[in-house]
Amino acid sequence: MKALVYNNPYEVSVEEVDDPRIEAPTDAIVRITSTNICGSDLHMYEGRTSVEQGKVLGHENMGIVEDVGPGVWRVQRGDRVSVPFNIACGTCVNCEHGLTAFCLTTNPTPGMDGAAYGYANMGPYAGGQAEYLRVPFADFNLLRLPPGDDHELDFTMLSDIFPTGYHGTELADVRPGHTVAVFGAGPVGLLAAYSAVLRGAARVFVVDQHKDRLALGERFGAEPIDFSAGDPVEQILDANGGMVDRGVEAVGYQAHDHTGEEHPELVLDNLVRAVRSTGVIGVVGVYMPQDPGAADDGAKDGRVAWDYGTFFAKGQRMGTGQCPVKHYNRDLRDLIVAGRAEPGLLVSHELPLTAAPDGYAHFDRREDGWTKVVLHPAA
Ligand SMILES: NC(=O)c1ccc[n+]([C@@H]2O[C@H](COP(=O)([O-])OP(=O)(O)OC[C@H]3O[C@@H](n4cnc5c(N)ncnc54)[C@H](O)[C@@H]3O)[C@@H](O)[C@H]2O)c1
Ligand SMILES: [Zn+2]
Ligand SMILES: [Zn+2]
Repeated sequence: MKALVYNNPYEVSVEEVDDPRIEAPTDAIVRITSTNICGSDLHMYEGRTSVEQGKVLGHENMGIVEDVGPGVWRVQRGDRVSVPFNIACGTCVNCEHGLTAFCLTTNPTPGMDGAAYGYANMGPYAGGQAEYLRVPFADFNLLRLPPGDDHELDFTMLSDIFPTGYHGTELADVRPGHTVAVFGAGPVGLLAAYSAVLRGAARVFVVDQHKDRLALGERFGAEPIDFSAGDPVEQILDANGGMVDRGVEAVGYQAHDHTGEEHPELVLDNLVRAVRSTGVIGVVGVYMPQDPGAADDGAKDGRVAWDYGTFFAKGQRMGTGQCPVKHYNRDLRDLIVAGRAEPGLLVSHELPLTAAPDGYAHFDRREDGWTKVVLHPAA
């Protein structure tokens, strides 16, 4: 089959690789209809992870079940499914508590709990930017979708970024009436802002410097803050008449100033300043234990020098980590089916798999109008 593989920084290509096969009785094979390029893929693309050459990328996958192992009974051939990016066993203590992003059994990497498709440090699993994908523990992991091809662009957000954006607001304990600041208007930040709106926030601010992304934020019901126009925290305090109740970090360790210079502590510091005392911050932007491309030695080992002192003095709380997609995807699917949520609004480009390297290059440069790329390998 054809698949998108990582070669070197800024170099990915579509290659012929072995078809996946049923390796365990609980596996399924999914024929991929839609698979998205994620901001998380760009950390690998830019050489900022230890991902190995030849890895098939892609953790935002959906499609049609093509084959199932003899131990799979709930999911059937022909089912239309969303594949959560987490690969979880369903039986360890973390899975039993719904914390599938921290499954204790599926990632053999020392010191790492939680596995994913096609990602650095997340286990030996191939990604789904490919014609077919092997899904372990298929009955536990797969979410069934209504048959047909309705809502394809909305449903394809269920594998990662809609649940992840929602998780940011859950970690931040966003409640009706709250004022909320979301940093980053990439796909994750946009859907975090949208989730805050869905949860009944009174006002939601979304910070970025890309006009196209900020304009989408407005369509999702948020107020845009352009950090290239001045200190975003001052802008939020002015607009809100004081600090906000809640904050969401949807940028990650490659946070930068308006000139593009990276400061991994910048967004954490801004959130500590913008959120009121005893307020809560949800961090879904990724921070890595190792960053080969970091500007200073501390950050190379994941030591980000952010303002913990003020965070402590303000009695704030913070939640962090990968999203346990299964915790949210069923409910978010049903919001889409009911016509109450339309996360697919942020898709700017639908491309065949063969155009994936081009899609990576444009999306990586955050070119105007490239807000989310969906690949259709079956096309
Ligand atoms: N926790 C999880 O489960 C999970 C899942 C998916 C993605 N992520 C992470 O979420 C982050 C965002 O993902 P994405 O797909 O939206 O990526 P993206 O790169 O498309 O978006 C990031 C946005 O942040 C903006 N930004 C950069 N510096 C900023 C600053 N100082 N202030 C405000 N905005 C700033 C950029 O302009 C960009 O639009 C990434 O780190 C990604 O790895 C985490
Ligand atoms: Zn993703
Ligand atoms: Zn588990």
